[in-house]
Order: sequence, then C-alpha cells, then structure tokens
Amino acid sequence: MILITGAAGYIGSHTLHNLYQKKRKIVAIDNLYSGFKWAIPDTSIDLYIGNCGDPELLQFIFKKYKVESVIHFAAHLEVEESTRLPIKYYKNNFFNSLSLIEQCLKHDINQFIFSSTCAVYGTPEKIPVSESTPVNPLTSYGKSKLATEWALQDLTSSTATPLSLFTENSVNKLKFAILRYFNVAGAKVGGGLGQSTPNATQLIKVASEVAVGKRSHLKIFGSDYPTPDGTCVRDYIHVDDLAEAHSLALEYLESGGASGIFNCGYGQGFSVNEVVSSMNKVIKRELPVEYVSRRAGDAISIFADPSRVKNTLGWKPKYQDIDLICKTQYEWEKEIISRGL
Ligand code: UD1
Repeated sequence: MILITGAAGYIGSHTLHNLYQKKRKIVAIDNLYSGFKWAIPDTSIDLYIGNCGDPELLQFIFKKYKVESVIHFAAHLEVEESTRLPIKYYKNNFFNSLSLIEQCLKHDINQFIFSSTCAVYGTPEKIPVSESTPVNPLTSYGKSKLATEWALQDLTSSTATPLSLFTENSVNKLKFAILRYFNVAGAKVGGGLGQSTPNATQLIKVASEVAVGKRSHLKIFGSDYPTPDGTCVRDYIHVDDLAEAHSLALEYLESGGASGIFNCGYGQGFSVNEVVSSMNKVIKRELPVEYVSRRAGDAISIFADPSRVKNTLGWKPKYQDIDLICKTQYEWEKEIISRGL
C-alpha cells in the first residue's frame, strides 16, 4: 500500500492516476487547501481530509493499512508568497514533513519519496544543474524544502538512532528518493486532470488563463535579466513525465536501490518570452502582455542535468515539447470552464 499526501493536488493527483493505472494500492491524504476531491479517480481509494503531519491521523492510517511506501507532495509552493509569509512555509513544508517522517520511522515504512524543488539551488553559478551543484536557496520556499531534505537524510542515516526502537523493530530501514522538480507544467495528456488552484502564479498556468479570458493580460516579471532576451530562463517539465519519474523512483527503491537525490527536468531552458511565443502558436493569436518589474525571489536562469534520473531510474520522458506543454495546459483551462470546476 502506498500513502500519498497532497494526493488531490496538481502533481499528487497526476502521480496518483499513474500509479492507479498500474493497479497499485493507494491511500490518500489531502487537506483540500489547494487540492480537489474530484481529482481522485475512484471512490474505492480512501481519501482522508486532514493534515499530512497530524500524528493521530498518521497513526490511524499506518495501523489500518499495510503502508510500505509514502509519497509526500503536500506543501505550499508559491515562491513569491514565501518571501512574505515564511512562517506559513516553514510550518507546512518543514514542520509537517518532519512529523510525517517521524511517524514513518516509528511505523517501519520502507520507502519515502519526497517532492523537492530546484529552488534549493537558487541561481546556480553553472548550468545545467546536477545534483552535486551547491545548494543556495533564495526563498523560504526553497529553504523549507531543503530543511526537509536534510532532516530526511539525517534521520535515515545509518548512524541515527532508529525511531523504530520505540516500536517492535530495531533497524532503521527507511530509504528515500528526493525528486527536485524543475518547472512543472501542462496537464494530463488526453484531458481530465490538471492544475485547478485559483489564483495560481505559475507562468504557463497564468498564460492559459489569459488565453481563455480569465485574466486580462500576462505580466512578465523583469526584462532586464542577464539572459539572451532579458527574461528568466526555466526548464519546463510536463506533469505526466514527472508523475512517471515518481513511479520509477518507487520501483527503484522497492527493488533495492539506494537512497538518492534526482533532478527532474529535461535539460533545456526556455525564457519567459519563448514560453509566450509557444502559447501564441498554440492559441494562434498574441497573448496581451505587459512588462513589469522583477518579482521577489526569482532565480535568473536554471535548467537541469537530468543524467541521473535517466541513467539510474531509467526515466524516458515522453512529452519534452514546450508547445505540447502549453497546449495541454490551454486545453485543460478550457475543460475547467466547460466542466464548471
Ligand atoms: C519555482 C521553482 C519550481 C517550483 C515552483 C513552484 C525555481 C527556479 N523554480 O518556479 O521548482 O516547482 O516554483 O511554484 O525556483 N512569470 C512571469 N509572469 C507570471 C508568472 C511567472 O513573468 O505571471 C515568470 C517568473 O518571473 C519566472 C518564470 O515566469 O521567471 C517562471 O515562474 P513560475 O512559473 O512562477 O515558476 P518559478 O517561480 O520559476
């Protein structure tokens, strides 16, 4: 049995669908802060509405189900917001994760997959970014994720006193895969699922909302960065490819793979202007844009070196196409309207 936290959210729900199609047994937690019940595909999947760090809820679930693996998505993820409300990020992203990891150790969970971010690197000195690139998060979002990574590594290290000593076993057997996502975008190929959070801030999501008329125009935050066209550069990865990376990471740990960190991106950077051009191509007209000042906390330019995720997990991305990413996001935005979601 796999416990998925944040299972009704954007990346959590795509991963849940991926694993569900593979007939894996799943139990879900979501507090529905930015997730939706309808994103869970089947009422036979038990969804607990609550806090992923709540010890009582976790003890209940770990006793009721034979959970062997945990995939932990539940988090806040707005970079700019985290510069204004750091306590919100440390409490939800770090404190709750720590409590979840503690319960996993106490209940002898075998595998833990953690949803981390390339924001842990800040603006790196060298790109592409490999897992050994020095970490230097610029915001409380990145720092709260990095703090969780460190706690996970410390608490599962061979020298740490096993928390399972408090239960029947004396061996600390929890293994982890930390997936550092680059810029996740797009929606399920074929439709039916996508990011639905109101007031989302991610570029391709916002651009799609402008395209369907939910917003009047797209603000481009900064055009004076030291990049080829002055706008920031990111590595946009399709959410279905990222979901598959989780599934592969789980199989890898289950079949005896060692704990590790994996950068999840395609290894190709696109500027904000290039993304807008792609969206223009998809919608066959020009999105209204306004160039405004820089946004707090933004890294200048970052894209992944995906060698490790490909070589170790056997990840073979299927949707590495910025136009397809924009198209699936745009189609989903129209589906939100037609389904009244
Ligand atoms: C960051 C993280 C990413 C994380 C995501 C969660 C980095 C490098 N990446 O993405 O790992 O998963 O947060 O939310 O830290 N932009 C505009 N106008 C808009 C929206 C965005 O110009 O309306 C620009 C931003 O300034 C930025 C780029 O588009 O340069 C991408 O922004 P966004 O989609 O918000 O993601 P990141 O903050 O890069």
